[in-house]
Amino acid sequence: MTWPIPIRRLRSLLQSLHIPTSRRRRFQRSWPDIDSIEGYLVPGQEWWLYETAYKLHPQAQIVEIGSFKGRSTACLALGCVGSQKSVYCIDTFNGNDSDFGERAFFGEFRKNLERLNLFQYVRPLVGTSREIAERWNSPIDFLFIDGSHQYGDVLSDFDTYFPHVRDGGLVALHDVTPNWPGPFAVWNDVARPRLRNTGQCTTLAFGFK
Ligand SMILES: C[S@@+](CC[C@H](N)C(=O)[O-])C[C@H]1O[C@@H](n2cnc3c(N)ncnc32)[C@H](O)[C@@H]1O
Repeated sequence: MTWPIPIRRLRSLLQSLHIPTSRRRRFQRSWPDIDSIEGYLVPGQEWWLYETAYKLHPQAQIVEIGSFKGRSTACLALGCVGSQKSVYCIDTFNGNDSDFGERAFFGEFRKNLERLNLFQYVRPLVGTSREIAERWNSPIDFLFIDGSHQYGDVLSDFDTYFPHVRDGGLVALHDVTPNWPGPFAVWNDVARPRLRNTGQCTTLAFGFK
């Protein structure tokens, strides 16, 4: 039997009437807790991360470089609820000597995700992204780069993890703006030319391998 209205059209009809879908209702319920987590996302990127993670296949592996206190992680993990998807969180949880003053925030990261009942979807990998890259050896469905913003580090994050991204997999870089010359240059000169169907959600740029 075919539905009288295709699901996709029904969803856009609900959106145009401002009737929230179940996906949006789940996000709205979690929003006060997500919004209480300190982080650096630009409004709208929380929803983008959630919806992007939600749309991945049920066993997808997400790799986030730079989790800080878990704001972006919470959005990604919320998109994993009820599935076997995981978010691998690569971070020193200690900042970066050159551009980060904060120290030892793993406890806060964990508490924030536990409060949202999302820690079960999260696999923290504590160390620099270069150290973790040496032992990383599995396919990535969605790579989100938001660690050190120094040009050499962003380039290394892209160069070392990109080979593990599946064909058709998604890559996103945060802070692609002239205010952040590292991610901006790596995106424009290195990443974008190697990706298809590229787009932006404000300062978050993405494309498919
Ligand atoms: C901009 S914050 C991430 C923000 C987070 N994605 C959010 O939106 O809530 C950058 C993070 O990268 C981490 N970081 C900096 N240099 C790193 C490195 N070389 N390897 C791993 N993590 C690093 C810092 O500890 C910090 O938590």
